[in-house]
Amino acid sequence: MTVPALQIETLEAGYDPGLPIVRGASLSVAQGEIVAVLGPNGAGKSTLVKAVAGLVPVSAGRVLLQGQDITRVPAHRMVFEGLAFVPQTENVFANLTIAENLELSASLLKARGAQRAQRLEPVYAMFPDLARQRALDAGRLSGGQRQMLAVARALIAQPRLLILDEPSAGLSPKLVGEVFAKLREVRASGVTVLLVEQNVKAALGVADRAAVLVEGRERVVAPCAELLADERMAALYLGRHAGAGQAVDAVREAR
Ligand SMILES: Nc1ncnc2c1ncn2[C@@H]1O[C@H](COP(=O)(O)OP(=O)(O)OP(=O)(O)O)[C@@H](O)[C@H]1O
Ligand SMILES: [Mg+2]
Repeated sequence: MTVPALQIETLEAGYDPGLPIVRGASLSVAQGEIVAVLGPNGAGKSTLVKAVAGLVPVSAGRVLLQGQDITRVPAHRMVFEGLAFVPQTENVFANLTIAENLELSASLLKARGAQRAQRLEPVYAMFPDLARQRALDAGRLSGGQRQMLAVARALIAQPRLLILDEPSAGLSPKLVGEVFAKLREVRASGVTVLLVEQNVKAALGVADRAAVLVEGRERVVAPCAELLADERMAALYLGRHAGAGQAVDAVREAR
């Protein structure tokens, strides 16, 4: 059996000691898979992926990347372990050009000379629009292009696992389609993808499997095709959480 790309084992994590937000979450992501983490507002989705990425303290449980324990590896070291994280906001430097954004990522990896080119070139090849506009300030990009740049910056690290927190946030349906198509391309290039999403319909469209997180624990993990027909899905979203109606509608609409 091949080792999973990512294994989250009964993880507990939170911002304040004694107040876990992630409460015993477990999830396994196979090599080359795209897995989505869904769930109502405040379920702990962002906290979960931030804990995996070393940005939120873990109080119990483990995170394994290709079988190697990376629990408590500091966030800035994660790229060297093969994990790249794209946060929901502030994921590009608006006052730097596209080229500077990408070069900065390469510099943080201490890539120089040929090594630097070897990291930058495949990323420019995958994002021809960014290559064309490389002298443009990132702050002048549209939401979709900015998200593409955030993904591109993460890929400079040539990660084995790419984690994204709500890559569709604030994008029109057309742009969501473009960003998600790019994620499929990223997967085809050999990178495993874990994404947090509010956009249930889009997430179930791109992912192989999805987990529904409620109150810090996964309640359902299933192939997306099964989740679409799963009555538990709507129930979990409705639950005790007001304001989840939109997500429920999205589930129904996606069916
Ligand atoms: N920096 C923080 N400090 C303290 N508590 C926080 C912090 N960030 C989030 N929380 C709390 O953690 C809980 C889970 O938040 P989290 O952002 O992980 O949820 P989420 O599932 O990503 O929600 P959303 O769908 O709204 O993004 C919430 O109760 C939130 O108030
Ligand atoms: Mg969130």
